[in-house]
Amino acid sequence: MVSSSVMYAAVPISVLVAIGLIRKWRARNWAKCVSNTCLRGKTFLITGANSGIGLETAKALAKRKGRVIFACRDIGKAKEAIAKIRKEQPNGGEMIPMQLDLASFESIENFVEVMKAGFHKIDVLINNAGVVVPLKEDQKTKEGFEIHFGVNHLGHFYLTNLLMEHLKRATPSRIVVLSSTLHERGNIDFDDLNLRKQIEQAKKSGTSPRHNPGYSNSKLMNAYFARALASNLRNSGVDVNLCCPGFCATNLFRHSVKWYHYILMAPIMLFFMKTAKQGSETVVFLATDHTVEGKTGKFYRNCEEYLSKYPFDKDVETKLWNVSEELVKARKPL
Ligand SMILES: NC(=O)c1ccc[n+]([C@@H]2O[C@H](COP(=O)([O-])OP(=O)(O)OC[C@H]3O[C@@H](n4cnc5c(N)ncnc54)[C@H](OP(=O)(O)O)[C@@H]3O)[C@@H](O)[C@H]2O)c1
Repeated sequence: MVSSSVMYAAVPISVLVAIGLIRKWRARNWAKCVSNTCLRGKTFLITGANSGIGLETAKALAKRKGRVIFACRDIGKAKEAIAKIRKEQPNGGEMIPMQLDLASFESIENFVEVMKAGFHKIDVLINNAGVVVPLKEDQKTKEGFEIHFGVNHLGHFYLTNLLMEHLKRATPSRIVVLSSTLHERGNIDFDDLNLRKQIEQAKKSGTSPRHNPGYSNSKLMNAYFARALASNLRNSGVDVNLCCPGFCATNLFRHSVKWYHYILMAPIMLFFMKTAKQGSETVVFLATDHTVEGKTGKFYRNCEEYLSKYPFDKDVETKLWNVSEELVKARKPL
């Protein structure tokens, strides 16, 4: 007779083993970056490198002896992340913490000034930082732009343009833009880029839409920006590609996820969610793999090209670029 305590132990153990096997089976489709060339002499700049996918990307690049600039809004977190990586990889590449708040044009300008003084070139710029904030919180950047529009799109738009000389000095160089397949749900309303209508509605009702339109719209803007940049930079030696890392367990949803969501979502998380490291594979691939050389304006997922279902429109692309330039100049929503 099997004792009841053995039975009690066997059930959860079997469930855990089954979950582990299903995850492994699913993970076979999650590609890995196989490139492992030494990156000594190359400078990588990652926005938001202290957490999640940015942190795992930084680790992978430092491991291969690349020099990695951690452009983070909290310099303390950047130093902490670097100290942890250094412990794991005492012989890794140089890692440099720098302060950059993409929610402030002044911070972006100060950051670029320090870059100009201290660094001659950037081989790869990785526009990784991002936020997801419930609309009802009505968060804005220092200049008053809606937080997703301001940080995820405008901040990176301004930063990238200010760093162009650094990228051109390193050709063949690359820009990797982190978007998401959620860009396919995005919509760009030039009459309400700061989402005032939806935010006021969310504040009134006290609830925010389940799919955050601010986030999806900003990921669509990332896609439009990368496409415009790729066509402006064609034949310049600076390649621009976009990627979706997949649905990953990171700090991204910290403002919208409550403790009980973790319990309700546990099965989905266990079966469908990648780790931040698994999510970083496509980013590292786009930043380093020789097969990407010369490819530009493409969207990648799982280390291979992904054909977006979104009907991109060249007029919208041009208009978004021009409006973004105007807004950066005006330094306030018009
Ligand atoms: N996780 C997913 O499922 C998923 C799916 C598709 C796409 N993505 C994209 O992947 C990228 C990385 O996200 P993640 O999942 O790794 O999230 P994460 O762990 O929350 O990392 C986001 C990073 O962005 C930084 N950041 C936020 N606001 C900033 C600001 N104003 N200035 C400078 N840095 C700022 C954060 O800094 P703090 O730590 O100081 O807040 C953090 O380092 C994002 O662009 C996201 O849209 C993620």
